[in-house]
Amino acid sequence: MSISEIFARFGEPAFREGEERVIRRLLEGPPIVLAVGGGAFMNPRTRALCRARAVSLWLRCALPTLIARVAGRTHRPLLAGGDPAAVLARLMAERHPVYAEADLIVDGDDASVEETMEKVLAALDAYTPPARVPVGLAHASYEVLIGAGLLDRAGAHLAPVLPQKRAIIVTDAEVGPLYAARLRAALEETGFSVAEERVAGGEESKSLATYADLAERILARGIERRTTIIALGGGVIGDLAGFVAATLLRGLPFVQIPTTLLAQVDSSVGGKTGINSRHGKNLIGAFHQPRMVLADTSLLETLPLRERRAGYAEIVKAALIGDADFFAWCEANGAEVIAGGAAAVEAIRRAVEFKAEVVAADEREENPDGGRALLNLGHTFGHAIEAECGYRDVLHGEAVAVGTGLAFLLSAELGLCPPEDAARVIGHLGAVGLPARLGDLHRPFSAEALIGHMRRDKKVRDGALTLILAEGIGKAVLRRDIPKDRVRALLIGEGARS
Ligand SMILES: NC(=O)c1ccc[n+]([C@@H]2O[C@H](COP(=O)([O-])OP(=O)(O)OC[C@H]3O[C@@H](n4cnc5c(N)ncnc54)[C@H](O)[C@@H]3O)[C@@H](O)[C@H]2O)c1
Repeated sequence: MSISEIFARFGEPAFREGEERVIRRLLEGPPIVLAVGGGAFMNPRTRALCRARAVSLWLRCALPTLIARVAGRTHRPLLAGGDPAAVLARLMAERHPVYAEADLIVDGDDASVEETMEKVLAALDAYTPPARVPVGLAHASYEVLIGAGLLDRAGAHLAPVLPQKRAIIVTDAEVGPLYAARLRAALEETGFSVAEERVAGGEESKSLATYADLAERILARGIERRTTIIALGGGVIGDLAGFVAATLLRGLPFVQIPTTLLAQVDSSVGGKTGINSRHGKNLIGAFHQPRMVLADTSLLETLPLRERRAGYAEIVKAALIGDADFFAWCEANGAEVIAGGAAAVEAIRRAVEFKAEVVAADEREENPDGGRALLNLGHTFGHAIEAECGYRDVLHGEAVAVGTGLAFLLSAELGLCPPEDAARVIGHLGAVGLPARLGDLHRPFSAEALIGHMRRDKKVRDGALTLILAEGIGKAVLRRDIPKDRVRALLIGEGARS
């Protein structure tokens, strides 16, 4: 039977069902080039199948080209019912946003078959599918996609995992001008309606005042429960926008598009969101998992070198917690990662895989033996340093690097870890240009003030100082029994006044 006959006898739904079955069978077989009809890709199950088993490519044509091509043809059932130009225009308006969810788009308008084929081959040659790291949690599972060029295909990646094609981009005054227009275009291409809200850049934006203002601005747009909040920026935007998403209408869908190395390897994964209080960092917050994380490594090109280094500190941290081989890899490849070379994708993937595993095992940091809390290696010292510096001048990752150095020095002094390991950690951080010791920050720290901040940190339980220390490289441990005096002695030994 011809397609028209099947339509006439059994109706379009029956045809689509058969079509889906045939496509499934073909995609489950050996590799082929499969030209699906115009309606097949409109079926969400068929699209999901294509995503899972194929590279999909849309040969995009403008309306006049299509009209010319179908002129005089009578075997196309959908065109039989009226003026072909009007029908085609309607179909295009409906279908193009969905076709734009294809992996690749090639314009095929006026070119010859040979020319278009060359373009298709070139697009396929240039295509590297993103690395995908699954994050599997009890109540939410999502993927972290890592690769160059994800931003410009954001709509294609996000449409399948979002409940509505409506989104609010939250970004900052530095990232917005660089990337928001491209993100907007990529979303609109797949039929999203998009709005954008900007806040000032920097840690100061993780405040109650900015949160309140942003929340009111977003609510003023008349959002619905299914509207997605997309964080486009570094850890500050991820934490702030995530907290807005967690709280507005008791929880909106959320997506992270991290633009700093720190956010790509750490803060965008795991669902911790929050803002700062005058009593300390991240004290107001919620767990709210994203629907997807798009880590586009090409966005790091505009990130200042100092910020890239700071993000690298979190990669080293991941290695030091649980993977000695990864630390050795870092020693060999760290400089290239910071320079943005090919090693960066691998470093991000390994750090995200590590974090995903830790978070999956202990989503809400409830494991008394460490679990997710181990990710705070270097952070209790680090937060104290940031607080002392007023969250300015020293970057989060730099404070974490010094905190990691201090955690290893303390571990060595307490006899937990070999002194050579502490020396190796400090040596590597220094070799890539990160501060690793208190003196590297060239500030007049007070040991008492730093310890005061550490006691206020969330990691204080029943008054005892809880720290993540190390029994060696790749062997972080949680200790709740660290005497204040040993910490004070270490800090004074490192140049702080008492
Ligand atoms: N939620 C978590 O699990 C978690 C984990 C670690 C850190 N954090 C938080 O992350 C924050 C630090 O994040 P951060 O280091 O990404 O800082 P950030 O968000 O302040 O970004 C650093 C600076 O770089 C700019 N920037 C960002 N992307 C850029 C790009 N591609 N090109 C040019 N400039 C760019 C920003 O505008 C900003 O000025 C801290 O508040 C920290 O508490 C959260």
